[in-house]
Amino acid sequence: MPGPFSQKEIVLGVTGSIAAYKACDIASRLVEAGANVIPVLTRSAQEFVGPVSFEAITGNHAITALFERLQNPEIEHIAVARRAHLFLIAPASANILAKAAHGIADDWLSTTLLATRAPILFAPAMNTQMYLHPATQANIEILRARGCSFAGPASGTLACGEVGPGRLIETSAILEAAGVLLSEQKDLAGKRVLITSGATHEPLDPVRFLGNRSSGKMGRALALEALRRGADVTVVSGPAQAPLPHAAEVVRVKTALDMLEAVQSRVDTVDVFIAAAAVADYRVDAPAPSKHKHTGASLQLTLSPNPDIAAWVGQHKRPGQVSVGFAAETDDLLNHAGAKLAAKNLDLIVANSVGGAHCAFGADSVLAWLLTPGNPPEPLDLISKEDLTQRIFDKVALLLQS
Ligand code: C5P
Repeated sequence: MPGPFSQKEIVLGVTGSIAAYKACDIASRLVEAGANVIPVLTRSAQEFVGPVSFEAITGNHAITALFERLQNPEIEHIAVARRAHLFLIAPASANILAKAAHGIADDWLSTTLLATRAPILFAPAMNTQMYLHPATQANIEILRARGCSFAGPASGTLACGEVGPGRLIETSAILEAAGVLLSEQKDLAGKRVLITSGATHEPLDPVRFLGNRSSGKMGRALALEALRRGADVTVVSGPAQAPLPHAAEVVRVKTALDMLEAVQSRVDTVDVFIAAAAVADYRVDAPAPSKHKHTGASLQLTLSPNPDIAAWVGQHKRPGQVSVGFAAETDDLLNHAGAKLAAKNLDLIVANSVGGAHCAFGADSVLAWLLTPGNPPEPLDLISKEDLTQRIFDKVALLLQS
């Protein structure tokens, strides 16, 4: 299934920052995702990186000077400004932010930024004091007010030794933000989506817990797809490895009871609820206040069932609200999934096999079916979690209309 980058032309503007070398990775990830990347290096960027690397990665000529246009009409700035689907400036220096904010057009990149009507995404990278300077902050405000988008910066130790905001945010976050801007399908615009994701940890004592192997990849993929389609996204996430999109509101929880409470206080205002978390079925009745000692004797734990969050939402659903759940089963998948669809009053359940070669836990692809009340299961075969999320939201968009 084509993703948001497929067949898209992206101008990658690289400006003068020590992080310029990271733009090679950004270019390569964009190309991998199917984009046609036009690299542009400002004069100061060329002090850090050369055009040859970008040409090798993108297969395109790297633009380094405004007046090249006289020799090559393909890269004439007005033609590119019209053709491009996105301008991504990464890393974006304080200088390019200032020029873009004030309409200064003194090189290829700044001139073309004035000429384009494509979305513009800046990933700033600079010294903390430069970033925090009122002039830079005011320029960012001007650009935001004009509709430009920003990814980062991240905080951390900078090349200059200072600690604070100013680091180029990681490539995956830049790609996420670019994907949201490029996506043309905005059928969830104005909709609010609440997703549970990850595992839950049920404490035994202050240092030990009962948990599971949920990676959080499904929740992450769902959040990204909902954002791309224009939704406002909140993720209530238990412990999990997969990073959540920066544009989503993230509520961190540990136990099933915390997750239920976080959902209960938010679900009234949402249009779509998706239960993608692997919630622990049981919790320890009375977690020990101090660490269990290794005595060599056997240890008895009494477990109580945890509340079923998806079922609670099913019982309290408003008319028009859509709820989606997952059934991960080792055997008799479709029968179990059908029973859960009814028991939890869901509008859609995604059945995926966790037996044998196709274990969904931690995997990038799953063997899946979609089940809706009163209809035969729809097989999706072996499908990536990204493609699966597209199919889920195609269905959700239909359910919201019905
Ligand atoms: O019953 P089972 O755990 O297999 O159901 C799976 C579905 O129910 C998933 O969507 C899961 O997120 C949700 N669930 C829940 N709260 C629980 C258990 C499961 O929301 N306590």
